[in-house]
Amino acid sequence: MSPQRKLLLLGTFVHSKTQQTLDIFHSAGIAVDARGKIAAIERDAPDLGEAKARLLTKLGWDEAEVDVTQAADGQFFFPGFIDTHIHAPQYANAGIFGKSSLLDWLETYTFPLEASLADLAKARRVYARCIRRTLSHGTTTATYFATLDVAATNLLADLCLSMGQRAFVGRVCMDRAETSPAYYRDASAEASLEATRRTIEHVRRIDPGFDVVSPILTPRFAPSCTREVMAGLARIHRETGLPIQTHVSENAGEIQLVARLFPEASSYTDVYRRLGLLTPRTVLAHAVHLSEDEADAIAGQGAKVSHCPCSNTSLTSGAARVRWMWDKGIDVGLGTDVSGGYSPSILEAARQAAMVSRHVAMNIQIPPDDDAAAAEEKTKEKERVKLTVEEVLYLATRGGAKCVGLEDKVGAFEVGMEWDAQLVALSNVNDDGELPDDAAAANDDDGGDDDGFVDVFGWESWGDRVAKWLYNGDDRNTKKVWVKGRLVHRRR
Ligand code: GUN
Ligand code: FE
Repeated sequence: MSPQRKLLLLGTFVHSKTQQTLDIFHSAGIAVDARGKIAAIERDAPDLGEAKARLLTKLGWDEAEVDVTQAADGQFFFPGFIDTHIHAPQYANAGIFGKSSLLDWLETYTFPLEASLADLAKARRVYARCIRRTLSHGTTTATYFATLDVAATNLLADLCLSMGQRAFVGRVCMDRAETSPAYYRDASAEASLEATRRTIEHVRRIDPGFDVVSPILTPRFAPSCTREVMAGLARIHRETGLPIQTHVSENAGEIQLVARLFPEASSYTDVYRRLGLLTPRTVLAHAVHLSEDEADAIAGQGAKVSHCPCSNTSLTSGAARVRWMWDKGIDVGLGTDVSGGYSPSILEAARQAAMVSRHVAMNIQIPPDDDAAAAEEKTKEKERVKLTVEEVLYLATRGGAKCVGLEDKVGAFEVGMEWDAQLVALSNVNDDGELPDDAAAANDDDGGDDDGFVDVFGWESWGDRVAKWLYNGDDRNTKKVWVKGRLVHRRR
């Protein structure tokens, strides 16, 4: 890779300050050094020219050595999204789930597809498309489940590195005979652990510092795994400090299956706790039906949760309670869970998180025989559980970064963090009331600028605009995407 040029980004910047608040700053500039790190931030300059001059002076940089990107009116820079749970092989099935729910979906759609990607040419086609498409939606960090096949998993790591997406890549472990089909199963716990080590070694060779791509230990979910394999992965975690990802408490049938397979455990979460997999570096996807005790155990161990609202609705798994998990002190991020979830977009996951929280609110019943105090309490709680625009965008960025242990590196704009970001464009509709001569072609090459969903009357605050982006936006609004200062996607 050729050495990177320094960057100056000028314009409006939006990022999460806290879980509840966005920091929106204008007439500003961010300087990014040749290693992709934010070297300086200049806020509230009289104009962009001055912001640029101040940054160059402060850093002693020459204008000739920097590439300048200026956000136009109505555009803003936003941190790249973090997808804390996505199955790269399942990208080929995004949208195909019919009326299935988790266990029959796995058997009908998912295991056959994943097994077929042992064909490396097929794997390359699916993985390259998955990375390209998620990048185009602004996903700068993805936490991937791959498949059982080591060569295909290693190829996914190669492609993330060459296409420039920050990623955690997990070789999936499933060695339990009662629950895994003969055509898609590890021969033994030892074979599963050995295959995991081969992927770790491969990633160490291509990215020795795990700087952009890191391995992640990946027991598929308790039902697919023997105690031996899970204990072995926990051992590798203790030796290497590598992160862990799995699924927990997604679906009622799955929870019953776990109770049957692990009678010694007091709950689904307890299976992982007993085997040493509940750690501060563990990302648990779903967590829809946790008991109080399970949530307390997760919080107590500092394990994280990937909330996957699109998947949970698609597979009718249930409605996870983000406010309740936050109250417990659990760190939560967002996952698309492609293809349990049909959309590769974290913006979509964020708005679905907002919608699911409203379903959680609507499910708080206030029976007519409640006394006034009880009714008032529940009315307040209904309001409180709803997630705001600011909160779901926090989940999509800083929250996700914390889940995957990257909170000091990505998810926000601060000096010392890396430039993982997207340039978002919102613009006014052409309001002359006429279709252009060739409307179809015009829509083709303006890449969505004609959407016109923002500020038709010129009275919207920046908060309003961001809300409209969340609820109406898509990849057409994502004009440029950078990872570690490298431009990895551009929409013409
Ligand atoms: N549980 C075990 N495997 C999977 C999977 O691939 N997707 C989802 N959503 N849940 C799972
Ligand atoms: Fe999943």
